[in-house]
Amino acid sequence: MGEDKTDPKNWRPATQMVRGGTQRSHFDETSEAIFPTSGYVYASAEEAESAFKGDIDRLVYSRYDNPTTNMFEDRMKLLEGAEYCASAASGMAAVSAALMSQLKTGDRVVSSRALFGSCHYIVTVLLPTYGIETEIIDGTDLSEWERALSKPANAVFMETPSNPTLEIIDIAAVSQLAHKAGARVVIDNVFATPVLQKPLQLGADIVCYSATKHIDGQGRTMGGAILSNDEEFAMDQLRPFLRNTGPTLSPFNAWILLKGLETLDLRVNKMSENALAVASHLEGKKGIARVIYPGLASHPQHDLAMRQMNNSGSTIVSFEVPGGRNEAFRVLNGVDIIDISNNLGDAKSLITHPATTTHQRLSPQERSLMNVGDGLIRLSVGLEDVEDLKEDLDRALGAA
Ligand SMILES: Cc1ncc(COP(=O)(O)O)c(C=O)c1O
Repeated sequence: MGEDKTDPKNWRPATQMVRGGTQRSHFDETSEAIFPTSGYVYASAEEAESAFKGDIDRLVYSRYDNPTTNMFEDRMKLLEGAEYCASAASGMAAVSAALMSQLKTGDRVVSSRALFGSCHYIVTVLLPTYGIETEIIDGTDLSEWERALSKPANAVFMETPSNPTLEIIDIAAVSQLAHKAGARVVIDNVFATPVLQKPLQLGADIVCYSATKHIDGQGRTMGGAILSNDEEFAMDQLRPFLRNTGPTLSPFNAWILLKGLETLDLRVNKMSENALAVASHLEGKKGIARVIYPGLASHPQHDLAMRQMNNSGSTIVSFEVPGGRNEAFRVLNGVDIIDISNNLGDAKSLITHPATTTHQRLSPQERSLMNVGDGLIRLSVGLEDVEDLKEDLDRALGAA
C-alpha cells in the first residue's frame, strides 16, 4: 500500500506551509481565525475539575494553549518533521527556554563561539550564573568538538550558519559526538530556515527559531518556536517550564506567522537566489576585502553548506570593507533602497553593522575571536529586483 496522501504528514513542504494545521471554526472561514481569548468557559464545575486533572482534553488557558497558536505549532511540526512544537513570544524566549528548561546546576554545555549577541549572553553569562559550566569552541573545527565532547556533557548549542560570520557547522558529525557524550543537540536554525535545513533529520534533538525573521519575514511581529522529537524534553521539561514561566506567543502574532508560513518557501528560495547574485556581484569588487557567503565556492565550508542546506547559501551575505568602521558606516549611510536595520530575513533588504549593534555588548576581545571586525557588514537580501540592489550597493561603495 502506498502512503496516505490525505495525511498532512505526507504532503510536500509547500503544501504543508499553506495548509498544515488549519482548523476551521463552525463559520467555515477560508483564512485561519484569530482567537483573542485569554481563557475558556466550562459547562460545569465538574468539567473544570476534569480539565485541570487532565481527564479531558480541552483548552483551559491561553498561557498554555490557544486555537490560533496551536495552528501555528501544528504547521511548524509538519514542516520540521517534529512530534512536538512549542511557540514562544520571541526567538530569544525560544532559545533561553530550550536551554534553561533542561539544564541544572552542575551540568555542562559545549557551544560554538560564533553566535548572535543574545545567544552568546545566554551561554556565557546566564547559564554560568546558575552553576552550569559552558565551554565555548570554534564550531567549524571538528577536532575541537571531539576534544570538548570527550568529557560528558548535557547539551550542545550552535547556530549554523552563524550570525553574522556565516560559519557552517557539520550538524550530523557533531550530533554523533554529542550523543556519545550524553548531550542533546540544540540548533538555532534561524539563518537556514526550515525550508533549507532540517536539523532533526541530520541528528539534532532540538531546533529553535526566531519566527521574527524569515517565518514572518515581513517585519510585522516577534515570535519563536522550539521543535523536537524527544518526548522527555518536550513534555517533562520544556512544557512545564513554558507553562509556568509564561513567554507565550499571542494569538494575533501566531496568526501573522501562519500567514508568513504560507509564502515562506517562495520567499526563502527567491531571497537566496538574490543573495547568491549579490554575493557574486560583490566578490572581487574594488573596495571589498572579503565576501562571506556559503553559496560561493570561496566560502571555507562551501561543500558542507551545499550538502546541509539543500544546495543553497541562504539569504544573508556578509562582507568586509578594508577601511574599518568609518568605511563601513559610509557604505551603510550610502545605500538608498536598502534599509539600515538590525533585523533580517525580511522581504525588504536590510543592512547591519554588527560590531556596533547586534554584537556591540561583546568585549573587543570576544568580537575579535568571533571575527566580527569593524569593517564587517551583514546584508539580509530581500525580494526587491536584484539589479536595483546591486546598483544600490555599487553607488554606496562608490563604484557605480
Ligand atoms: C541567530 C539568531 N537567533 C536568535 C535571535 C533572536 O530572535 P528574536 O529577536 O526573535 O528574539 C536572532 C535575532 O535577532 C538571531 O539572529
